[in-house]
Amino acid sequence: MMNEHIAIVGAGLIGRAWAIVFARAGCTVAIYDAAPEALAGCDRLLHENISDLALHGLILEAPDLVLGRIRPVATLAAALQGAALVQENVRETIEAKRAIFAEMDALTAPDTILASSTSWLMASEFSEGLRGRHRMLVGHPVNPPYLVPLVEIAPAPWTSAAAVERARDIYTRAGQSPVLLKKEITGFLLNRIQGAVLNEALNLYADGYASVEDLDKVLKDGLGLRWSFMGPFETIDLNAPEGVVDYAKRYGPTYRDVARTQLPNAWTSELLTKIEAERRTVLTSDQLAERARWRDNRLMALVAHQRKQAR
Ligand SMILES: NC(=O)c1ccc[n+]([C@@H]2O[C@H](COP(=O)([O-])OP(=O)(O)OC[C@H]3O[C@@H](n4cnc5c(N)ncnc54)[C@H](O)[C@@H]3O)[C@@H](O)[C@H]2O)c1
Repeated sequence: MMNEHIAIVGAGLIGRAWAIVFARAGCTVAIYDAAPEALAGCDRLLHENISDLALHGLILEAPDLVLGRIRPVATLAAALQGAALVQENVRETIEAKRAIFAEMDALTAPDTILASSTSWLMASEFSEGLRGRHRMLVGHPVNPPYLVPLVEIAPAPWTSAAAVERARDIYTRAGQSPVLLKKEITGFLLNRIQGAVLNEALNLYADGYASVEDLDKVLKDGLGLRWSFMGPFETIDLNAPEGVVDYAKRYGPTYRDVARTQLPNAWTSELLTKIEAERRTVLTSDQLAERARWRDNRLMALVAHQRKQAR
């Protein structure tokens, strides 16, 4: 069990989910939000999520024990007091990130790790010019991090190797699966790869090759099955008798030719409206929330299954 103290700044969807990750691992967690109503609603929402995890066997302690390690606090200074790592989750604008990192820099000990959950901003954009920029980095989670363990650690050029190592160690011991970006790039790794898949799906739909439903099936009944336990490089290493180079000899030229035809999609509102209309024929608007709960339960069942498998 971990015994570090962790601070969570921003008690929205992602902040609350991070609080569960660290409390489940044994940390004491202080959670702060600038909006009093966000803090006030925190306990009830956390309780719901933690109880669901317990039902799926994804939390082995009593839910109240885990919840008891999370303390909503009314000021930023009180939340940051004694934290080994601060996970920032305020809204996604460069101004908001710059302001909160400047405040956190002034309020924390020089070796406290200051990590941002930002989905798209680079650490160099919000930490430049700050005295403690050597301990600032991005720790980008996937929603919700208590089910999906990947964390993309994306340091700025000036982030110290020691800070990166400490962040990686804390995330790993908290049960997450960190990956390290060797240099900064917009969208990090996951959203760039997700973007490439979406781009191609949009193009194939726009050019009339298949329906929305069938394109979704390509992932859920095809590629996605394997992708839940191995990535594209391991896939091609195993899909030709002699490995990666053998695979590339057989199929590389065709992939290269196809890649030349894979152009950027413009994401026009006309195209997206058509796609949404197809979705509404299988799922009406008033069924969206219920289907999101179904998704969460499927994900929990999958994670529970994966925990029993050899990695
Ligand atoms: N939602 C996702 O799927 C997802 C996934 C990965 C990363 N992220 C990133 O996580 C961050 C938070 O996203 P979210 O979906 O939880 O948003 P959210 O709107 O649910 O929560 C943001 C919270 O921050 C609070 N806040 C705003 N300014 C603050 C300040 N100065 N100090 C303290 N609290 C403040 C708001 O009151 C709000 O409760 C964003 O940077 C987002 O890009 C989101």
